[in-house]
Amino acid sequence: MYENLSLIYDSYMQDVDYEKWADYLTEIIKNNNLVAKTVLEYGCGSGNLTLPLSKKFNIVGVDLSDEMLSLAEAKLRKTGTELFKGDLRYFEFNKKFDAIILACDTLTMFDYEDIEVFFNRVYDQLNPGGIFLFDILSKSYLKDFIAQNNFIFDDDNVYFTWTSEDFENYIESYFTFFIKEGNGYQRVDDYQKQFILDIEILKKLLKQSGFDFIETYDFLTNNEVNNKTDRIQFVAVKPK
Ligand SMILES: C[S@@+](CC[C@H](N)C(=O)[O-])C[C@H]1O[C@@H](n2cnc3c(N)ncnc32)[C@H](O)[C@@H]1O
Repeated sequence: MYENLSLIYDSYMQDVDYEKWADYLTEIIKNNNLVAKTVLEYGCGSGNLTLPLSKKFNIVGVDLSDEMLSLAEAKLRKTGTELFKGDLRYFEFNKKFDAIILACDTLTMFDYEDIEVFFNRVYDQLNPGGIFLFDILSKSYLKDFIAQNNFIFDDDNVYFTWTSEDFENYIESYFTFFIKEGNGYQRVDDYQKQFILDIEILKKLLKQSGFDFIETYDFLTNNEVNNKTDRIQFVAVKPK
């Protein structure tokens, strides 16, 4: 997984303002009157968010993809950030953290059964009073925007097409990448499934795991989720 997506991930995400993203998550932690020193980032990927977060916290990253981890390792070498290979549903640390982050709609890759396992893992891995921050893409964004359009991405190193199909509870995306290699291009195909996740069901699963304070925001704001929200930021706090 992400073996092929890793080849284009950083080119595709180059316009995302990860410094702003890290500042937003840091603000949420402060607004909840929490002092977080230690942070665990599950699904840290190529380390794009881990890097700015490493300037603020003592952070460790976990990801399942060797390819994404090796990109992260190169970015984070000077920061001393520890990275681990593991499945976020089962990877256990023998210490607990003040905050746990799962960013960039990674949760949409999992069905409710896996999410239940993951939420229990996160709860166990947090210190009392610790905070869990994750985001998902809204149903309308996935079904009405992503699944209804075809995308083409083109820069100096990669050209790719992205089409999707809409199913009842998920969408499937199909990618064809042409990656510059010498004087030619290498063709690589990939596929991704993203589940349509319901806010109320996720809140129920968080409560069931033991979290008490649970909030959702229109991403990058403190505003309530509305019918124009593309990305939904979740905040859940473990009781002290
Ligand atoms: C959408 S990317 C997000 C990367 C990064 N958080 C960012 O903001 O750019 C999803 C990441 O989750 C990782 N991932 C997917 N399933 C996983 C699992 N079961 N355990 C750990 N990591 C996983 C992928 O390898 C990939 O790096």
